[in-house]
Amino acid sequence: MSRIAYVNGRYVPLQDAAVHVEDRGYQFADGVYEVIALRGNRLVDAQGHYDRLWRSMGELQIEPPMTEAAMKLVVDQLIRRNRLPDALIYMQVTRGVAARDFKFPKSTNPGRESALVITVRPAKLDHTAQLRDGVKVVTTPDQRWKRRDIKSVALLPQVLAKQKAAEAGAFEAWMVDDDGFITEGSSSNAWILTRDKKLVTRQATNMILKGVTRTSLLRFAEEQGIAIEERAFTPEEAYEAVEAFVSSATTFLLPIVEIDGHVIGNGKPGSFGEKLRAAYMAYADGERGDDTRWVA
Ligand code: PDD
Repeated sequence: MSRIAYVNGRYVPLQDAAVHVEDRGYQFADGVYEVIALRGNRLVDAQGHYDRLWRSMGELQIEPPMTEAAMKLVVDQLIRRNRLPDALIYMQVTRGVAARDFKFPKSTNPGRESALVITVRPAKLDHTAQLRDGVKVVTTPDQRWKRRDIKSVALLPQVLAKQKAAEAGAFEAWMVDDDGFITEGSSSNAWILTRDKKLVTRQATNMILKGVTRTSLLRFAEEQGIAIEERAFTPEEAYEAVEAFVSSATTFLLPIVEIDGHVIGNGKPGSFGEKLRAAYMAYADGERGDDTRWVA
């Protein structure tokens, strides 16, 4: 069965899904995006992703292509048409098609110019091997712009970081700012559990993307009574951690067993991470009522 994508008002077979060469997303990376997991036919943490998508558009003065309620209907329709119980929903909004000119095009039809593309791609979301063995991380300089809080499609630094990780046999690259502190992973947030049992993740400022998964995990960690510190930490502090994790819509939470060749804890996934992931998965399974709201 062919996969179906949504492109600017039409449901089309993926192989025919195309945007105009003068789409500003293509020419200027002038757009924003979200990724939502679909697991056992349930969207995971969806409201948080819509909240953040609207905020990203607002920060860049991109007109929403439709209302949030309408976009949710399109996503539901796509899920129905693709019949994939476990998948990743990718949604991208750009400033639309206009003759190449850096400044925003003059609006002639407000609310009708931005471009919306949504795709659904099959994904294995049980992460069996990574949960059993843990994953490896390497660090790399953070080469991004200063508005990392906006989920922009300008991902070249992350592409290069992830490639570096892959070439080093690692799952993720943790990016390090000019002051020597880890910001986040190339497509995930970064966490450590210190020897004195404090859960540490960088504070959400313009320096990182405030993860939707991160927001929910902080809520569940708090419920578990662990001390939480939202602050920056260095690679050296991370090497000494008893546990470390990545979090994102595609990984939920995965345990890290090695950073830059330094073994974390006893080299095996730890019990705190396991408990926190279990809390998140119960939430993903709908056992906790409503989604967490994501607040900027
Ligand atoms: N990336 N930090 C960065 C730079 C990210 O790209 C992501 C997500 C996250 C985690 O955010 P969330 O928990 O809301 O997924 C943090 C997505 C999954 C991607 O680009 O594929």
